[in-house]
Amino acid sequence: MILVAQVSDTHFDLGSRNAERVEAVLAFLNGLRRTPDAILLTGDVTDAGKPEQYAQAKLALATDIPVYAIPGNHDDRAAFRTTLLGEAASDAPINHAHRIGDLTVALLDSSIPGEPSGLLSDETYAWLHDVLATAPADKPVLLALHHPPAHLFSPVVDEIALAEPEKLAEVVANDQRIVAVLTGHAHSSATTTFAGKPLLVAPSTASVLGGDWELELPDHVMDYAPDPAVALHLIDETHSLTTHFRSVPMSGWLGVPPA
Ligand SMILES: [Fe+2]
Ligand SMILES: [Fe+2]
Repeated sequence: MILVAQVSDTHFDLGSRNAERVEAVLAFLNGLRRTPDAILLTGDVTDAGKPEQYAQAKLALATDIPVYAIPGNHDDRAAFRTTLLGEAASDAPINHAHRIGDLTVALLDSSIPGEPSGLLSDETYAWLHDVLATAPADKPVLLALHHPPAHLFSPVVDEIALAEPEKLAEVVANDQRIVAVLTGHAHSSATTTFAGKPLLVAPSTASVLGGDWELELPDHVMDYAPDPAVALHLIDETHSLTTHFRSVPMSGWLGVPPA
């Protein structure tokens, strides 16, 4: 069994609150009987893309479990590269792929510098085609990006989702190895289908964004009361995918119900 944790929208902002919530999630993951093989961090790592926010993120994300991160709309590619990844500054998309046992995870940079909405560039599609061309036959593939390529009935986010989703849909529909698409951005644990595959939206560790059926904008848009949460993706030997969404209480584990 392969176990991949997905943490999203950490929004490191130099304050202690968001950092402590990520630290609680990482402590939870590190304390599991079966620790995850990897942690995917699907964007909005920082709140404003500042180098010092990436420095805060790098410190908090230091863990024995490999962390694979991509940018979201709140990130800055140059600062992401230099401070979080320790690479040379560049505004090129931050795409990377990893092999985890039989699984290939392709992380795609859907951010557009200076824009809140998302788009996968021609360069990113060319890179993805190369990754898929060299990925093992008959072995599972997960795609991860920040911006959901589907309508989620989510105020704010549906206006700034992935543009040109049909281009990604064609890739996903035509490759039997792709078992699911993972995103963040919506600050909500959500699932739908995309190109006939599961589209799994990880919760944010920082806040929860209500859906279209909740109270009117502009009040009650973001809820900062809920505990942070994480998505746990399990892939078995038949390549079947199961996902659990797990909130991580800031007050710690409680083995018996409260009186
Ligand atoms: Fe976010
Ligand atoms: Fe976002």
